[in-house]
Amino acid sequence: MRHCSHRYLYLLLLALFVSFAANCNGGKTSSFVRKGKKSIDMPLDSDVFRVPPGYNAPQQVHITQGDLRGTAIIISWVTQDERGSSKVLYGTSEDSLEFSSKGRVTRYTFYNYTSGFIHHCTLQKLKHNTKYYYEVGIDHSPRRFWFITPPEVGPDVPYTFGIIGDLGQTYDSNSTLTHYQMNPMKGQTVLFVGDLSYADDHLNHDNVRWDTWGRFVERSTAYQPWIWTAGNHEIDFAPELGETEPFKPYRHRYHVPYKASGSTSPFWYSIKRASAHIIVLASYSAYGKYTPQYEWLEAELPKVNRSETPWLIVLLHSPWYNSNNYHYMEGESMRVMFESWFVKYKVDVVFAGHVHAYERSERVSNIAYNIVNGECMPTPDPSAPVYITIGDGGNIEGLATNMTEPQPKYSAYREASFGHAIFEIKNRTHAYYSWRRNDDGYAVEADSMWFYNRFWYAVDESN
Ligand SMILES: *[C@@H]1O[C@H](CO)[C@@H](O)[C@H](O)[C@H]1NC(C)=O
Ligand SMILES: *[C@@H]1O[C@H](CO)[C@@H](O)[C@H](O)[C@H]1NC(C)=O
Ligand SMILES: *[C@@H]1O[C@H](CO)[C@@H](O)[C@H](O)[C@H]1NC(C)=O
Ligand SMILES: *[C@@H]1O[C@H](CO)[C@@H](O)[C@H](O)[C@H]1NC(C)=O
Ligand SMILES: *[C@@H]1O[C@H](CO)[C@@H](O)[C@H](O)[C@H]1NC(C)=O
Ligand SMILES: [Fe+2]
Repeated sequence: MRHCSHRYLYLLLLALFVSFAANCNGGKTSSFVRKGKKSIDMPLDSDVFRVPPGYNAPQQVHITQGDLRGTAIIISWVTQDERGSSKVLYGTSEDSLEFSSKGRVTRYTFYNYTSGFIHHCTLQKLKHNTKYYYEVGIDHSPRRFWFITPPEVGPDVPYTFGIIGDLGQTYDSNSTLTHYQMNPMKGQTVLFVGDLSYADDHLNHDNVRWDTWGRFVERSTAYQPWIWTAGNHEIDFAPELGETEPFKPYRHRYHVPYKASGSTSPFWYSIKRASAHIIVLASYSAYGKYTPQYEWLEAELPKVNRSETPWLIVLLHSPWYNSNNYHYMEGESMRVMFESWFVKYKVDVVFAGHVHAYERSERVSNIAYNIVNGECMPTPDPSAPVYITIGDGGNIEGLATNMTEPQPKYSAYREASFGHAIFEIKNRTHAYYSWRRNDDGYAVEADSMWFYNRFWYAVDESN
């Protein structure tokens, strides 16, 4: 025993010394103090929830990538009065929508709620880097939108991702979305790290709040893809209401191209977009050894071709490196399963949500431990990803302000404010990352760093 604890103390001191030496400027807890006000949901009659005019007009329009490489797109919308057509008319000229594609309809019930008609239609064989116009609701009250397809997948293709998490539908959520849209850095696609509507915080998981959320975010989701990750607020497991099928509303409303990456479940999958390979993981689906998610990820990581997609980005909901007391250590079991793979395959960055605050880590790993060696400290590791928690979208549950003290060395920056981030890929070696808080003007950066690609240019970013 004695020997053991001495050995442990020694390792602890060594680890502390190593991390100190490698990171002498230490982490920062922002002194920014946000106005203390409660996050409340926008009332049902708010402007952002308005139902579009016209009989059976399509609403809640949203798009996401529809295949592995960005030449397809899934268009989804809801009709409320009757089924209507699932056809999408589209084309590259505003005057003639020369193509059409037919989708499918689904519906679901949840306790005493019955959904509208939920349409999903995939447009295929799109040209790269092209503006397409599209129209839905064609037989009753057509509405027209547009999107721009990504450039062909390739190693030096610049591309700008927005990152939003735990959005909800409060006045703060509206501020986050507005800040994202007004950000001069112009995100082209949103990486959404889970927890969409927070309908489950309402009586009987009031699914009307799924509809209002769909209408609220339409001003962005109809025009650019949002890449979806499932969070705990998507589970909607409510046996007390007779609802025992997890993810029922989410699965019906938000389709993703999971089959294209060989996945057997919509909760974990990957896409390639521009110069990025993006892996979406499921914090609330099994990931132990032999489970489908484990086996999929084990096969997926060796397939990532950094000569084609230099940037390897992972999205998941429950963060692994979180120094907030809120949801403290909840991501630990998944970290134990997968962290060594992230280091081996040199993941550039992991975006998570769940904690309603912002945090950015140093590059650290904690993979030396086995059941006898006691080596369980996070240590600086140039092959490790940067972990970013960005569950600060502004939902009804409010900010997570209670952080662990002292701030761990691996935590580079943390702050309890609502906001969003931008990851701007410049080429195969450089990407510029910035986080903005809602309390500031649209152009103000509160935290930022240059990312150096772990495969092509793995030098220490802090120098
Ligand atoms: C569902 O039940 C709740 C009360 O439990 C009620 O307030 C609500 O109006 C009902 N909704 C529908 C669509 O019947
Ligand atoms: C939400 O934000 C938009 C854009 O800033 C604004 O037009 C709208 O009035 C806001 N709605 C609410 C309910 O705050
Ligand atoms: C990786 O991508 C490069 C560039 O597109 C290509 O030349 C190469 O064949 C790919 N490697 C594999 C193993 O597919
Ligand atoms: C902060 O979290 C810790 C650990 O959960 C708890 O003991 C403490 O009471 C919390 N502080 C406040 C002010 O809520
Ligand atoms: C990659 O982008 C960075 C930042 O914009 C730039 O400094 C660097 O020269 C670029 N590399 C190449 C090979 O163009
Ligand atoms: Fe969450």
